[in-house]
Amino acid sequence: MKIIGTGSALPARQVTNDEISQFLDTGDAWICPRTGIRSRHVISDEQLEDLAVEAAQKALDMAGLGAKDIDFFICSNVVSEHVTPGLSCIIAARMGICCPMIDINCACPGFIYAMDIAETYFQAGKVERVLIVCAEEPSRMTSWEDRSTCVLFGDGAGAAVFTRGDKLKAVKLNAEPAPDKISQYRTLMPTPFVTKEEESTPLLMQGREVFRFAVTTSVRDISELVERCGLTLDQVNWFMIHQANMRIIDAIREGLGVEAERFPTNIADHGNSSSASCPILLDECNRKGMFKPGDVLVFSAFGAGLLSAAAVLEW
Ligand code: UT7
Repeated sequence: MKIIGTGSALPARQVTNDEISQFLDTGDAWICPRTGIRSRHVISDEQLEDLAVEAAQKALDMAGLGAKDIDFFICSNVVSEHVTPGLSCIIAARMGICCPMIDINCACPGFIYAMDIAETYFQAGKVERVLIVCAEEPSRMTSWEDRSTCVLFGDGAGAAVFTRGDKLKAVKLNAEPAPDKISQYRTLMPTPFVTKEEESTPLLMQGREVFRFAVTTSVRDISELVERCGLTLDQVNWFMIHQANMRIIDAIREGLGVEAERFPTNIADHGNSSSASCPILLDECNRKGMFKPGDVLVFSAFGAGLLSAAAVLEW
């Protein structure tokens, strides 16, 4: 498959480190050096689906397609206000998309997992045009009284439209199940029968262990995949790394021995937007005209699960 359109959308409200320091015992002096984040976009009066629809529409416009031209739709989302139906159906109803659709919850590597699913459908000859939308509001998962998590995340949506082609060169999906490393629990409706104790929690994260997992798997996944494609790291034009923490991105870059110019970032004013992170970065770079035909892009993402994934895509 190949990409023929990208789009992204961010909430209007941008929250700086200084603003958070007005209600929490933290500040720019800790957040910026430890994470590279100066501000993040946070949902206020928007609905998550507003952002998803905006990102998807921009991607369709760039592709020169209408909603009816899409024959398979994958939505990546960890949490939204809708338990059922899936966010894909909410977005589709707003846009007039009318084709089979699925929702996946693969956390931060969701865009790469979705690309792998789409590629499988293309190879099976089942589809001609696929829309992937990643829409996330992690700001609604964290406790805004927990300085160790709330400062890290930002909300947003990223989208891409794919058609038949041979530009996705390789994908690696990886899982090392450890559900306690990043987790959030919600209670379901009570019944007359449930006797066990249940409790909702905000997002909980074992930051240092996730940091180690992120760097180790990303360096390994990228190295393996680039070699599998018969390429060297020198032949990769752009390393599109999940924007979780600037120190993670730097450690991956150092692990691979690659200079910073080939690692585009937007973490400074976006924070970590989970699965939306990679497609938002992709769209921003694309709209800046950074990619030339034939450029090699390597995606790498890691997060809850623990899951990681990488992909090699020729532009
Ligand atoms: O999307 C993928 C999922 N997530 C990630 O990839 C995140 C991976 N992990 C990380 O990015 C880093 O581990 C964090 C940014 C979460 C934390 O950085 P760290 O260098 O590992 O710090 P730490 O958790 O070990 O905390 C060091 C200190 C602690 O104080 P004490 O116990 O040493 O006195 C924390 O209480 O920093 C304190 N701290 C803060 N201080 C001010 C933690 N958060 C803050 C804060 N402001 N926001």
